[in-house]
Amino acid sequence: MVFDVVTIFPEFFSGILEHGLLKRARQGGQAEIRLRDLRDFTDDRHRTVDDRPFGGGPGMVFKPEPLFRAVEALQTEAGGAEFPVILLSPQGRLLTQPVAEELARHEHLALLCARYEGVDERVAEHLATDELSIGDYVLSGGELAAAVVMEAVTRLLPGVLGNEESSAQDSFSGGGDAAPTAAHGILDCPHYTRPPDFRGWTVPEVLLSGNHEEIRRWRRRRALEKTWRKRPDLLAKVPLSDEDRRFLEEIKTAALAPAR
Ligand code: ADE
Repeated sequence: MVFDVVTIFPEFFSGILEHGLLKRARQGGQAEIRLRDLRDFTDDRHRTVDDRPFGGGPGMVFKPEPLFRAVEALQTEAGGAEFPVILLSPQGRLLTQPVAEELARHEHLALLCARYEGVDERVAEHLATDELSIGDYVLSGGELAAAVVMEAVTRLLPGVLGNEESSAQDSFSGGGDAAPTAAHGILDCPHYTRPPDFRGWTVPEVLLSGNHEEIRRWRRRRALEKTWRKRPDLLAKVPLSDEDRRFLEEIKTAALAPAR
């Protein structure tokens, strides 16, 4: 996967590219991250990327020309091969796990990071093929959002995670030992490691039992319980097995029972 990141802050990415998953994926050849300084695509002495908004108002707006030039240079380099051009902005469609999975199917993505009050609308309308938001809040720029997109997508690429199964068991990808029917969308079950007793808080007995079927059932039940308590909206969207429905009935009944 090649990520072309167009930004006025290429140095912003040095930390995340040199640590953890993105570092490993770059070294392993699964991801190539090319940082493109937007100012290299300006044509004035001051390397200007923004200007005042027509109609007045506070803040500055990214000019269209440098962004168009930057993407057109990438398209020329790609020799006509098509790739998504993604504008990071709070107006975009929300990044979710299924969206990350969809993006991971491409071989090349361009990520456009804008700053200040926004970007000239002609970029969104005529240059970007997609507009993505990482959540309903406003950041002062798209760089953090681009980093989030790269991390979420890269960990889905084959060979990036040591254990091929581990991304399939994440929250939103099946919720810990997913029933075969549940493709997406519930929270992960709790995890524990040594010591079995930490300050009197003990690890659930079943996890020490070695009984794989019991452990699978416990994990599924706890994943459903966590989802029901914290994100009940997700339960309406996932396919549930008969076992899941039984677990949920038990969870609800237990929650309604008077405390003893
Ligand atoms: N730029 C500013 N806020 C953003 C957000 N929430 N998501 C993506 N890009 C952004």
